[in-house]
Amino acid sequence: MKKLIAGNWKMNASLAGNEALVQGLLAGVGTPACDVAVCVPSPYLAQLQTLLAGQQAIALGAQNVSAHESGAYTGDVSAAMLKEFGVRYAIVGHSERRQHQAESDTLVAIKAERALQAGITPIVCVGETLQQREAGLTDTIVKQQLSAVIHLVGHCISEIVVAYEPVWAIGTGKTATPEEAQHVHSVLRAQLQAATEHADRIRILYGGSMNAANAAQLLAQPDIDGGLIGGASLKAADFLAIVAAAQ
Ligand code: PGA
Repeated sequence: MKKLIAGNWKMNASLAGNEALVQGLLAGVGTPACDVAVCVPSPYLAQLQTLLAGQQAIALGAQNVSAHESGAYTGDVSAAMLKEFGVRYAIVGHSERRQHQAESDTLVAIKAERALQAGITPIVCVGETLQQREAGLTDTIVKQQLSAVIHLVGHCISEIVVAYEPVWAIGTGKTATPEEAQHVHSVLRAQLQAATEHADRIRILYGGSMNAANAAQLLAQPDIDGGLIGGASLKAADFLAIVAAAQ
């Protein structure tokens, strides 16, 4: 299966900075062997749609989507709006939103469904906190998070991307070892296999301090089908090195 390397810029962007970063990416990306995407803050979608026009190597992604279709939801951005700007992927249920915006498993599942209905691939994030890992709850937590999505989207489950992001590894420089990550990915794969016969084509990304130095080893694991990259996606050279590691 073709791997996916997706950059999550989080709340780091500016008109000038985006232009420089995208120019650097386009100059070096060539024809990648994997799918590549950048998930940017909503105000910059129009700029990115223009910067990425006329090429196929890098797709556009969003970092969130409203659980509602349209109407009186001040501050929300709908899946249909994202679609108008050429968005192909939308991150849903990132741990930063689960934590700071109190997003529940059910809300995340509704967001995934909204994205799918608009023809956008949701990148559904799951992951345990350090406390949960130390209590031996890792498998239980990630399965619970994914299960809400499986139940809501039903047979469309084969259209999603999953990202396993241990919360303790995000932005900390602490990466899960390839073996630790592979274990959780295999648990998620088995859960997807029980839900669909197409589980082998669902990409399960790893995220959490993935960088140019550790990407190849992580991506060599049998159930790691790509990466969701935060910090290292903000420098063209680092992000391109990860893309190159995903051959
Ligand atoms: P990080 O972030 O690569 O900076 O750890 C990953 C993410 O939160 O998606």
